[in-house]
Amino acid sequence: MKKSRIIATGVYLPEKVLTNADLEKMVDTSDEWIVSRTGMKERRIARDDEYTSDMGAIAAERCLESIDMPKDKVDCIITATLTPDYTFPSTACLIQNKLKVKGAACFDIQAACTGFIYALSIAKAYVDSGTYKNVLVVTSEKLSSIVDYTDRSTCVLFGDGASAVLVSAEGDGLEVTSICLGADGEQADLLYMPGGGCRNPASHETVEGGLHFLKMSGNEVFKHAVRRMESAAKECLEIAKINEKDVSWIVPHQANVRIIDAIAKRFEHLPADRIYKTVHKYGNTSCSSVGLALDELMKEGNVSNNEHLLLTAFGSGFTWGASILTYKKGNVS
Ligand code: ACO
Repeated sequence: MKKSRIIATGVYLPEKVLTNADLEKMVDTSDEWIVSRTGMKERRIARDDEYTSDMGAIAAERCLESIDMPKDKVDCIITATLTPDYTFPSTACLIQNKLKVKGAACFDIQAACTGFIYALSIAKAYVDSGTYKNVLVVTSEKLSSIVDYTDRSTCVLFGDGASAVLVSAEGDGLEVTSICLGADGEQADLLYMPGGGCRNPASHETVEGGLHFLKMSGNEVFKHAVRRMESAAKECLEIAKINEKDVSWIVPHQANVRIIDAIAKRFEHLPADRIYKTVHKYGNTSCSSVGLALDELMKEGNVSNNEHLLLTAFGSGFTWGASILTYKKGNVS
């Protein structure tokens, strides 16, 4: 069996910044409430004519360019998103067309905020088994297209953005040491969008009833998020036989700084400044949040050979997952 590695990363963030001060003018909220309850100060919002596939394609392009990887070497594109350009065809196919990577296999997966880790698990399976050599995992979200900007309980939380990683059998990078995934479909209605699928196809009534906006029972989601991200992370450590003390960084889904801090407290051996945070500047970008944070962490250059990173995420479904990545330089064994 080969061992897959993330050998390149890339991101895209829209230019437009939506600050807490901007939100104060839109709904009955305050910078103080948003910062104290979520840790968020600003988030990025895509232009009206900028779509999930556009953002994903730029992140993918930057990822490949960072290691001068020719586009025709990409065998497969897996896109994770809950805000696809269309119901079909897949956003991965649209990204393939923008990248001009003819022939690569393409499909989307939907695991909400856990999408990065779910997609990574599929890429790992393809590369480890020798099915494909180079798999591009792209996460991209235009959450602003499904957020109700009159609902203060959700509109302050979300931002847009994309990330991409290249998973390959060869090259220096982050070896995918272990992955754990889980889900609980009983909790589906705590975080969902009622309209647009076959149950409530678009109609005047669904639009007037606000069914095409994301709905969330924030308090409930909060409790599950902390518990599931902790347990997935600990299960992943156990499977990999890696001690918590040997983890250099936790890179969690960036839903809320209070969730991140609650997870940090459950890892008593890890200094608080070793849990990576971007939530203050990008908000919750759903499945892009782990990829955005991972890209920034790696570009800061603070990860050395054989150090372990622990990713953990949670999202609608409910879904959850964790992964241990180990930085490896030199040939893959
Ligand atoms: N500004 C001011 N007041 C507000 C705002 C706001 N933006 N939003 C809510 N409030 C009010 C509420 O109306 C409520 O008022 P009341 O007491 O008079 O009724 C009060 O603040 C407290 O509301 P809560 O919902 O209890 O606030 P809480 O501290 O739980 O924070 C939050 C809400 C930020 C949504 C939090 O519950 C949370 O982060 N939940 C988890 C989100 C998450 O993890 N999502 C993960 C996956 S996302 C995905 O998969 C797409």
